[in-house]
Amino acid sequence: MKTLRVLTGITTSGTPHLGNYVGAVRPTVRASRQPEVDSFYFLADYHALIKVGDPARVQRSTLEIAATWLACGLDPEAVTFYRQSDIPEIPELTWLLTCVTGKGMLNRAHAYKASVDKNTASGEDPDAGVTAGLFMYPVLMAADILMFNAHRVPVGRDQIQHIEMARDIAASFNHLYGEHFTLPEAAIEAHVATLPGLDGRKMSKSYDNTIPLFTPREQLRKLIMGIVTDSRLPGEPKDTDGSALFQLYQAFASAEETAGLAQAYASGIAWGEAKQLLFERIDQEIAPMRAAYEELMQNPAQIERTLQRGAEKARSVATPFTRQLRHAVGLRALDTLAAAAPAPKSAKIMAPSFKQYRQSDGLFYFKLVDGGGQLLLQSEGFTSPKEAGQAITRLQSQGTAALDAPGPRLNLIASATELSTALAQLSGQGS
Ligand code: TRP
Repeated sequence: MKTLRVLTGITTSGTPHLGNYVGAVRPTVRASRQPEVDSFYFLADYHALIKVGDPARVQRSTLEIAATWLACGLDPEAVTFYRQSDIPEIPELTWLLTCVTGKGMLNRAHAYKASVDKNTASGEDPDAGVTAGLFMYPVLMAADILMFNAHRVPVGRDQIQHIEMARDIAASFNHLYGEHFTLPEAAIEAHVATLPGLDGRKMSKSYDNTIPLFTPREQLRKLIMGIVTDSRLPGEPKDTDGSALFQLYQAFASAEETAGLAQAYASGIAWGEAKQLLFERIDQEIAPMRAAYEELMQNPAQIERTLQRGAEKARSVATPFTRQLRHAVGLRALDTLAAAAPAPKSAKIMAPSFKQYRQSDGLFYFKLVDGGGQLLLQSEGFTSPKEAGQAITRLQSQGTAALDAPGPRLNLIASATELSTALAQLSGQGS
């Protein structure tokens, strides 16, 4: 039963490297195989626009990252795998969230603050070169997460603050408009945020010390031979502590293999030999995926189709949920007011609404209440919010006929006529 919703994105701003693989791709592909996990993985291409101004690079990186995820074993049938910019509801939600987000909170975001501090230190205007996109980054990210009511968000340490902000934003919205959003939690892979690069610092595009994940075998060998070591000679014992080579090995090897290398360090293995071991160990894991990757890269049209199917799946959640959120904040058609009694005290009590929620049994429920708060219909538990959302969509398109659809029962509390009236009112609001 899928009770845990896990969501993460990768910004499409560069070529995936070993750090991305160990830190993000490998753990998320593994997590997606757990039967209780409902996975949402996406290509964060709107986020890429914040730092990349080169259209060809954004497109190329989107292809590379999609091919990487697929080559590493992500099953697009078993998960929801999509491109952020195929979901127009996300920028729409970004605006709804922007309006409940404190500017002061965004002022404190690390990435924005780092730019401001750097400007200040160099005597520039504090906001020189800072776009509003950079400033708004955390809100767009909150929309990514909250749109799908993710429980858990696997990220690197540098992203923890963004998840906390998403929680704060969700809580503000819920407080103002009712319980619409699940509060997400960051999930951190303990050892991976620190995968070292060629120079021993954290592997990162910004240090120019990365090993591209699917670089050809011979190139991989060359790069690994260039990893920085100390000057100890063959035969001299070597320190595993602070050895980038050792840490890289550890990220790929079993505990026994790692212990074996530690032993070899102690007995004075030559650096060249240790590098050769590391190279073979990494290549052993990567080689089959590299072949799949190269084939996928020859077939962008196939990847595009996969993403389009993923977008359809994602929107089967996002579209009805956005309809619900628009209604919640008061973006409503006016004819429901005209149909109502004169001079209503508050628009809030006029319109019926769907409410989706999760109970302690882990299942996802919804109910339909009328403008006066009377319960009209109560669902039984669905295993995923997606299925609950689909049942709502069916009700909206088929009316009472949808009551007989297979799946968890929809218990009609009111009369069929009252239900039809409420659904008609809802559809009159449009979306
Ligand atoms: N900001 C993340 C990163 O750099 C990418 C990202 C965008 C993301 N939206 C997200 C991650 C939502 C998790 C959830 O690397």
